[in-house]
Amino acid sequence: EWSMDNFIDIEIDKIRQEVGDRKVLCAMSGGVDSSVTAVLMHRAIGDNLTCIFVDHGLLRKGEAEMVMEQFGEGFNMNIIKVDAKDRFLNKLKGVADPEQKRKIIGNEFIYVFDDEASKLEDVDFLAQGTLYTDIIESGTETATTIKSHHNVGGLPEDMQFKLLEPLNTLFKDEVRELGIELGIPEHLVWRQPFPGPGLGIRILGEITEEKLEIVRESDWILRDEIKKAGLDREIWQYFTVLPDIRSVGVMGDYRTYSHTIGIRAVTSIDGMTSEFAKIDWDVLERISKRLVNESEQINRVVYDVTSKPPATIEWE
Ligand code: XMP
Repeated sequence: EWSMDNFIDIEIDKIRQEVGDRKVLCAMSGGVDSSVTAVLMHRAIGDNLTCIFVDHGLLRKGEAEMVMEQFGEGFNMNIIKVDAKDRFLNKLKGVADPEQKRKIIGNEFIYVFDDEASKLEDVDFLAQGTLYTDIIESGTETATTIKSHHNVGGLPEDMQFKLLEPLNTLFKDEVRELGIELGIPEHLVWRQPFPGPGLGIRILGEITEEKLEIVRESDWILRDEIKKAGLDREIWQYFTVLPDIRSVGVMGDYRTYSHTIGIRAVTSIDGMTSEFAKIDWDVLERISKRLVNESEQINRVVYDVTSKPPATIEWE
């Protein structure tokens, strides 16, 4: 009879048989799928697993620290953290087109991963958090294009690794259940989706360090308030965007001319369609006040009330 306990035992046996005492590499993003994959692999083969975590400088506040603490220290896994911020930001300098930005980030991710992987010796396998639904979705050609466009973790085809995909019979809810069973904290197992290109597609137009700082801090405040309001499970995805417009405001005796921050919060089942979340006015007011109070760069907050379609969830 199928149960999560059984699944873990059977999978661990399978992994051990296939891998033996050879070495496995895993690209860790901090997302649910790669985290569960890594912890499962680690339980099966321990130190023969090495994870590479690429910090492209477009992560949310506290994200890199959280991954290293939770998985590096907490689970005692080998994780190589690559600080590639300068590399990414240099490549992105002057680039304003959304698709161009995505392409650059995706390609650079592969180069960085490749560079790190080639420093390691005797690695035979690459573990990936492919789900059952990922396989189904890749069935048709259109879906493949959508997927490859969405997955920054896509890896070069000439890599000489055998693929391990221990989650490829599971649906998302089963992966979460497995995560809990493996001892991953609930708040990580239930985290909202975060796109591979990260904050890079939440800054409209050219990415600069200054804009990154604004969007990162505002996202932190938004997440904090959504959590305090007990809405973090109810709302499927919530984040701030920096549309790169300035407007006039007033503070004390002075006029200001500062950034507008957009709040995007949606309910959805799978991200394919969505509705804007009908967040309580009082909650929105608290968020708005904190955003303008805690950032000198922000003097106006707007709420995105569009569904998907016709709008997408992200602004780029
Ligand atoms: P859109 O904006 O297309 O987003 O309505 C649907 C879901 O996909 C996420 N998303 C991405 N994820 N790489 C990713 O890994 C991407 O380039 C990307 N673009 C959008 C988005 O956050 C939402 O959950």
